[in-house]
Amino acid sequence: MQETGTNNGRGFWSSRFAFVLAAAGSAVGLGNIWGFPTTAAQNGGGGFVLVYILCILLVGLPVMLAEMVIGRAGEKNAVGALQHLKPGTPWYLVGVLGVVTGFVILSFYSVIAGWTVFYFIQAAGGALKVPEGQDSATYFGEMFESMTANPGYEILFVAIFMIATIAIVAAGVRKGIERSVKIMMPLLFVLLILLIGRSITLEGAGEGLRHYLKPDFNAINRDVIIMAMGQAFFSLSLGMGVMITYGSYLRREECLPSSAGYVVTADSLIAIFAGLIVFPVIFFMVAVHGAEAEDLVAQGAGLVFVIFPQILVELPGGAAVTAIFGSAFFLLLAIAALTSAISLLEVVTAHFVDDWKIPRKKAAWGLGGIIFLLAIPSALSQGAVEWLSEGGLFGVSFFDLLYIITFRFFLPVGALGLALFVGWAWGLKNASLAIQTGTPNFRLEKLWQIMIRYVAPIAIAVILASQIAAVFASSDDQEPAEPAAEESPAEAG
Ligand code: PFF
Repeated sequence: MQETGTNNGRGFWSSRFAFVLAAAGSAVGLGNIWGFPTTAAQNGGGGFVLVYILCILLVGLPVMLAEMVIGRAGEKNAVGALQHLKPGTPWYLVGVLGVVTGFVILSFYSVIAGWTVFYFIQAAGGALKVPEGQDSATYFGEMFESMTANPGYEILFVAIFMIATIAIVAAGVRKGIERSVKIMMPLLFVLLILLIGRSITLEGAGEGLRHYLKPDFNAINRDVIIMAMGQAFFSLSLGMGVMITYGSYLRREECLPSSAGYVVTADSLIAIFAGLIVFPVIFFMVAVHGAEAEDLVAQGAGLVFVIFPQILVELPGGAAVTAIFGSAFFLLLAIAALTSAISLLEVVTAHFVDDWKIPRKKAAWGLGGIIFLLAIPSALSQGAVEWLSEGGLFGVSFFDLLYIITFRFFLPVGALGLALFVGWAWGLKNASLAIQTGTPNFRLEKLWQIMIRYVAPIAIAVILASQIAAVFASSDDQEPAEPAAEESPAEAG
């Protein structure tokens, strides 16, 4: 293996801290703040959290390190790095799948992100208030529906979000991505703490926390494990080359294992903390309005965009408090989404910059523009255009279709490919040598090697096989190809 250490003149992060911040920014997203708590609630609370943590340790962390080392040693994007490390073999196709997955995920991710921008503007402008004599549940339900059913709004807010994403990626790794995460990540942290402080002092919060953190081992079954694994990949941004691409801008003397450890820890803590906001809020509604917790949890998008506003208007302190906490909450979501979206676009952009020699600005705007076009049917499938929506042409909405394909298949297949690449094709010896340039005493080396060569591929393969079996089983029953407990974030969290 020859390493020049110049990473083909593509530029470096200014420090390891910047790399960790950007990688954590990618990992921490809508999947943590909204996906994790609601998926946990739908899948047995504490039991799910436990399975999730196991998935993170046994599979997530080893694969994250594998991706980082591929990127740094390959000195290129997801496709180019694999080509560089194993020239003349088909392994680069795993990178191609990653680039395709980046396209697809960003197209539907930006739809929800667009909603967060819409609600941030509403909250900051004081528009989250219920007119005299109206019921707040109905009012906010209608507000959400009128947004999603309005093609103009749907497209406008995706466009605003995509322009912000593209502008950052077009500005480059240091001047765009690094600079923006250095502002956004600390802000995200402050907003998170502010919101936790508010929600854990709400009436009913204690009950909410008990429900969240009490493990229910009886609830652990095959579907819970599948969901936990899917959630782990999605949340850690694994399986599509984000960490390969970000790792390719890291210097050889930096320590990879501890970087991977920091990113995984930050991601898991923020997911778990987000539950400290969401669960008390659910149980506030239960305590104050006698709502059924299960009904609230089942709402998914409704939870964030309908139930939250109802609580916001009820906070003691009046309109100013509603505006402050409302805008803090939706800004938190929007920032989390933006730091993830830039990593998705960077995977795609870096491939075209490195391997097709397209200038960065052109690549970012051109590819971001195509992703925006692909986002339009997803945006319109939320109620604006019937045949794209639930029960239309696809049985599920166009949005859900893309979500299920990527979440359930593309990311696990990608992660399996990358684990096999490091464990068997490129080889443990080469990978370890490449890690050692920054970590001469990698103490957990043997353990990591066992994980990446055996444990991770077997675990992912078993879960993939069981997903495929579930699809066949449900198509035999003539039911939609979705086992129980699985719905997209837009539908159910
Ligand atoms: N990790 C992000 C989240 O939790 O919302 C989503 C994501 C970003 C998934 C980047 C995949 C990815 F490559």
